[in-house]
Amino acid sequence: MRIIHSVKEMQEFSNEAKNAGKKINFVPTMGYLHQGHLTLMKEAGKNCDILVVSIFVNPLQFGVGEDYEEYPRDLTRDVQLAESVKVDIIFAPTVKDMYPSGYATFVNAETITEVMCGASRPGHFKGVTTVVNKLFNIVQPKEAYFGQKDAQQVTVIERMAADLNMPIEIVRVPIVREEDGLAMSSRNVYLSTEARKQAVVLNRSLIKAKDLIMAGERNKEKIYQLIQETINSAPLAEIDYIEIRDGLNLQSQEETLTGQVLIALAVRFGKTRLIDNIEVEVPVNV
Ligand code: PAJ
Repeated sequence: MRIIHSVKEMQEFSNEAKNAGKKINFVPTMGYLHQGHLTLMKEAGKNCDILVVSIFVNPLQFGVGEDYEEYPRDLTRDVQLAESVKVDIIFAPTVKDMYPSGYATFVNAETITEVMCGASRPGHFKGVTTVVNKLFNIVQPKEAYFGQKDAQQVTVIERMAADLNMPIEIVRVPIVREEDGLAMSSRNVYLSTEARKQAVVLNRSLIKAKDLIMAGERNKEKIYQLIQETINSAPLAEIDYIEIRDGLNLQSQEETLTGQVLIALAVRFGKTRLIDNIEVEVPVNV
């Protein structure tokens, strides 16, 4: 495995590999890798000649007062984990190389970035689409892998790739969870022992909601209330949002749920903000 820090070197490597007819697949990350990331890498590695993983904590997608400075970083550990799943190249650029002085260009998907996490974190998705666009231009992958854990993020990236005619296939990978159901996240290390215990309410409330829909409930408000009550049973939990939307385009669902429903949550435990979601295909009543 090779570690590349320079943007120029990475781009030259990819140019040469592509000219030699090699297929490059790509997993962008912010590092502090866990099994969720490693699952993306295993999937991405199945179907290519060269697997590139980027590790870059992107300052552009963190708002004022968010955790950019504290975000966990451990490149030595990440290198070992990436090696264990047969990554070929780790691309770990510096902030200066990615955003040199005078940097002025941004990519922004409208509408779908204005709801859910976009409403709670203004500017966040503009930072994500900008960095992912840059990484795509540098790495030049055929396929890029994203987790369903960040359901809105992968939808925004799909939108961007389609709108800008990018010759890249965006592949979704299901959420990887801890044994008790908590979605894996680099941010889980921030949780106190008590908050970590209570954090299972996110997944638990989503499963309850799905069960209720599968048992025949179609009323959006009833589903919302069940989720709210379940989360509020955890004393340390503070709801940022509960959203019940169309899974394909993130538009609001009507009062009566139909089709592919995405239920997405953002919940704070102290300063730590966790997200989770579930997709439910609403059975057609006969
Ligand atoms: P990061 O949070 O490091 O996540 C990198 C990728 O791993 C994302 O596609 C994310 O959805 C996926 N992922 C994280 N936890 C997961 C889990 N439990 N199960 C499945 N997939 C999981 O998302 C980012 O970084 C950044 O916004 C990035 C796209 C790299 C742009 O900076």
